[in-house]
Amino acid sequence: MTPLSCLLIVLNLASVLMGRDLGWAQTIREESEQTARYLTTLLNAGRLVIEHNQPLINDPQKGDKGFTPETFEREILGEFFRLTSIDVNRPPAHLPALAKALLPILLESSKHVVADAQFVINQRGIGYKNFIPATFGSQAARKFSNRSQVKMKQTTLNPRNLKNQPDAYEERALKQLAAQPSSTGPVTEWLDDGKTLRTVTPIYYSQDCLVCHGDPKGTLDISGYLREGAKEGDLAGAISIQIPLNNP
Ligand code: HEC
Repeated sequence: MTPLSCLLIVLNLASVLMGRDLGWAQTIREESEQTARYLTTLLNAGRLVIEHNQPLINDPQKGDKGFTPETFEREILGEFFRLTSIDVNRPPAHLPALAKALLPILLESSKHVVADAQFVINQRGIGYKNFIPATFGSQAARKFSNRSQVKMKQTTLNPRNLKNQPDAYEERALKQLAAQPSSTGPVTEWLDDGKTLRTVTPIYYSQDCLVCHGDPKGTLDISGYLREGAKEGDLAGAISIQIPLNNP
């Protein structure tokens, strides 16, 4: 073998190995991004279930509402399946391993929030109980973040709840989302030399939200906060997720 062909073989081998390495890194990245999307969708599904059950939860005539963690679980799994065609309890082979590991943790965290709220939910004689999609979502995201290396949070510029205050990155992403049309989708970036995935997925106000977040601006809503004067379709906030590359 000539020295040249020897060199060519070595170069070829190196490029094959590097290519494989790059391919692997690419796969991990795509799987992390998919996982962030699924986690966001599951938290949103939980918010929707609370929203659909709001009249029941707020019913002052009724004591035991039957809105148990098990009822909630059935409904959130149904909602998630409707949105993704994925059954969390029987995940399809194509679901990334990271999502298979993390979705059940978020599901459990969400059920715990509903379990912890049973006393409040089942109180008779009280209408508004401050158990709404936003309080559910903040608590479920916090519990989930305490149980995994992935961080999840509901946030907005000028939050009502100071625990939802955006960090510098989230503030920049929220400003970007507020300035662009709602169809543009989430902000997704790899930071720290590609070691941390950050996604900030927008939530927009629908008509139902405006009874508390709409007009007249500056007046008290039923929850005791000042109305923001928001309009239908305005950016309400976002679900923010951070996934380290060496997860979870
Ligand atoms: C009954 C009044 C009420 C309604 C209706 C309501 N919200 Fe809220 N919203 C609140 C309260 C109260 C908070 C603060 C919750 C907390 O303490 O964490 C909040 C907080 C939020 C937050 C988190 C950021 C923050 O300010 O702390 C978002 C995002 C949000 N709401 C979006 C919505 C959307 C979207 C809708 C409609 C689907 C909606 N809200 C409907 C009362 C309401």
